[in-house]
Amino acid sequence: MAKITIVGVGPGDPDLLTLKARDAIRSADYVAGFETVLKPVRRWISGEALPMRYRDQEDVLEQLAAHAESGKLCVVCAWGDLNFSAKELLDRVRRRADVQLIPGVSSVQVACARLGLAMEASIFITLHARDGHEAGLQELVERLKRRRRNIIVLPRPFDLMPAAIAALLLQEGIAANTQLRALQRLSLPDESIREYTLGELAAEEAEFSDLTILVFPV
Ligand SMILES: C[S@@+](CC[C@H](N)C(=O)[O-])C[C@H]1O[C@@H](n2cnc3c(N)ncnc32)[C@H](O)[C@@H]1O
Repeated sequence: MAKITIVGVGPGDPDLLTLKARDAIRSADYVAGFETVLKPVRRWISGEALPMRYRDQEDVLEQLAAHAESGKLCVVCAWGDLNFSAKELLDRVRRRADVQLIPGVSSVQVACARLGLAMEASIFITLHARDGHEAGLQELVERLKRRRRNIIVLPRPFDLMPAAIAALLLQEGIAANTQLRALQRLSLPDESIREYTLGELAAEEAEFSDLTILVFPV
């Protein structure tokens, strides 16, 4: 079976790419990934870049698997770390090849570093799932009602963004004075971190970046 290496490229700052990931990208004949994901690693691609969009990813991965089958070194780049909220892409590649995973720095690790949170004292909930956000939202409500750990939430760009999440939580009876932070574009030059109450967030009219994490500290 063809072999493909999947690397996590980190949360945006090219300096957060691991040396192992850089070497895999540099020595690859073909490097596939969503266009935004290839951006931080462009300078290391010496083979052919295969940018993909959501609608043509199956075709691009099929091409990549054919190259891998013929013995070429093939890499797929994923944002942040592969083991966090990237399962759909991993499954698409696994259907076509044996995969080797090179973990990266996750945006969640950067969030923990910025706020001084221990990962073992935190839970992560992603609303990013393509098969719906209901289960994630329900878990978030339950966790907020009996909170023991920090809760780190990934919104779903672009249809379930922070203000809409806050409004849904208020409807579910979570107190309007619940404190949280919105962390945007972590590790990038325009990174921002802002404190809100849930009530303030629900009323926020400013647009949020698609790279946003919400944190409810204990
Ligand atoms: C499909 S998930 C991928 C997460 C990725 N595998 C990781 O480990 O960071 C994309 C979501 O991660 C979060 N995210 C990724 N990079 C970020 C960054 N630099 N700053 C803030 N949030 C980020 C956002 O919530 C975004 O919608």
